[in-house]
Amino acid sequence: MVDREARSARRSERRDDVGLTSWELDGGSDADVFRAAMRRMVGGVTVIATRHAGRPWGMTVSAFTPVCMDPPTLLVCVNSRTVTASDISRDGRFAVNLLSEAQLHVSQLCSAAGSDKYVDDHVVPAALIPSRVAMPILRDSIVSFDCRVAEVRVVGSHNIVIATIESILAPTARGPLLYGEGKYLRGVGIDDLAALERV
Ligand SMILES: Cc1cc2nc3c(=O)[nH]c(=O)nc-3n(C[C@H](O)[C@H](O)[C@H](O)COP(=O)(O)O)c2cc1C
Repeated sequence: MVDREARSARRSERRDDVGLTSWELDGGSDADVFRAAMRRMVGGVTVIATRHAGRPWGMTVSAFTPVCMDPPTLLVCVNSRTVTASDISRDGRFAVNLLSEAQLHVSQLCSAAGSDKYVDDHVVPAALIPSRVAMPILRDSIVSFDCRVAEVRVVGSHNIVIATIESILAPTARGPLLYGEGKYLRGVGIDDLAALERV
C-alpha cells in the first residue's frame, strides 16, 4: 500500500515537470490524447453490411448507438472516405450486424484498410430469412438490424448515419465480441468470474 502511494506520488511529480496533473493523459497533440482516451472505452463490435458492385460488403464499426424506440432508430458513425459510406449514400440502406465472439475473423476481414471486404462467404442464405429483409445478414451475429437511412450528418471526417430499423433478426444467444485498449476481448460476467475463482 505504502509502495503504491509512493509510486503514485513519484508519477505525479514527473507529470508536474511537464505541466500535467495526474488527471491528464500525456499523449502529445489533442488528437493523440483523444485517441488514447477512446482506447479506454470497451464496447461491442458491429459489421455494417451494404451491397457493393452487386455483392455483400462489410465494414467493422464500433460507433453504434441505439437512438430511440418510437420509431425504432439507431445511428452509426462511418468515415466518409470509405466504400461503405458511398454505398450507404447511394442506396440509403444497410444492415448492422452485432458480432459474437465466433466472428472475430469477420471483424478482422472487414477492418483491413484498403482491401476488398466482400462478405459473400459469411452471409445467411436468403431462403433462411424473411423475404422483407433487404440487406446482408451475417451468420453467427448476436442480432442484426435491417435499416433505412433517415438522416446523414457530416461531422469532420465522419458521417453520422441515423437510420430507421425495418427488421430485427436475433437467431441465437451468443457471447459478444468486444473491443477496447486496442485489442479484441471476451466478456465475462462478474458473477461468473467470482464462481470460476472459487473453483
Ligand atoms: C474494432 C474496430 C472498430 C472500428 N470502428 C470504426 C467506426 O466506428 N467507424 C469507422 O469509420 N471506422 C471504424 N473502424 C475502422 C474501419 O473498419 C476501417 O477503417 C475500414 O474498414 C477501412 O475501410 P476502407 O478500406 O474502405 O478504407 C474500426 C476498426 C476496428 C478494428
